[in-house]
Amino acid sequence: MMELDALVIPTLQKTILVVEDSDAVRSVILSALEYEGYKTLEASNGVEALEVLKRQRPDLILSDINMPQMDGIQFYQAVRKIPSLTAIPFVFLTSHSDPADIQRGRELGVEDYLTKPIEPEALVKIINARLYRAAAIEAAQVNQAYLDTVNVLANAIEGRDRYTRGHVERVTTYSLWLARSLGWSERHLRVLEFGARLHDIGKIIIPDDVLNKPGKLTEEEWRLMRSHTIEGARMLRKIHHLRETLPYILFHHERWDGKGYPKGLSGKNIPIQARVLALADVYDALATTRSYRKSMPHEQVIEIIRQESGKHFDPHLVPRFIEIMNRMRDRIPRTRPLR
Ligand SMILES: [Fe+2]
Repeated sequence: MMELDALVIPTLQKTILVVEDSDAVRSVILSALEYEGYKTLEASNGVEALEVLKRQRPDLILSDINMPQMDGIQFYQAVRKIPSLTAIPFVFLTSHSDPADIQRGRELGVEDYLTKPIEPEALVKIINARLYRAAAIEAAQVNQAYLDTVNVLANAIEGRDRYTRGHVERVTTYSLWLARSLGWSERHLRVLEFGARLHDIGKIIIPDDVLNKPGKLTEEEWRLMRSHTIEGARMLRKIHHLRETLPYILFHHERWDGKGYPKGLSGKNIPIQARVLALADVYDALATTRSYRKSMPHEQVIEIIRQESGKHFDPHLVPRFIEIMNRMRDRIPRTRPLR
């Protein structure tokens, strides 16, 4: 996730395809772009440009509209039909005398126009802006793809444990409320979202009959259940973009008084991420029907959390958490008893 924040546009490596039938105009544009450090490809009409595209994939296409053989609009439509090229940003070159062409382009979804005669400065500005926007969209899509993958994993756990349906979603919401009120950065909130969704991923190794056992667990079953923290961390530690979620997965069952697991850490030795998640996790566990007991009303859950301040939970976070949960009470999803 950090890599996405640090995404920079390496201008020197970007390639622009310029499609323009006038040799004079094309050469002015090519010089301006090359002066800025862009690599360039050129073609004098759509047919030639499609030939160029068979060999190389530019980062942006700059195309005139009025050209012989295949005009800019036809060329644009042809490019958009090629799956590997659909994401390439496209900028049209127009002259003031072509309002109908501009209208046609707009209808096709072309966002950017450069009007001839071309000012090299405006040309470079609009191309930089368009490339930056394309990179930002790509980064957002990659982030969404990560989140979708994580959701599939999280749902795989929930699907097996009939008492915790919706648990991951609610725990993520409550943790985000608390973290936001603590002034966490957007980047840390994003990591939290991944960590909260994946916190119980290690339960994948626990057999169904243990996971859904109505009665008390045996010592061996309990040991297995507790191992979900370490097993989860073991599963995810090699996934580079998820490494920052490990404190959530490994330490969400630690307690402020040192009586938690897996390490028995205490106080501020427990990463803040896990101290935040523990509050949200326990709130939802108590407010939801489990295999071993019925759900509790909000007031009763809040009272237990208050009593556990300095024992189970970080005493600095408890008042803040209680205040938020009381304030957001109308937005806390109702959890229906299952079956
Ligand atoms: Fe857990």
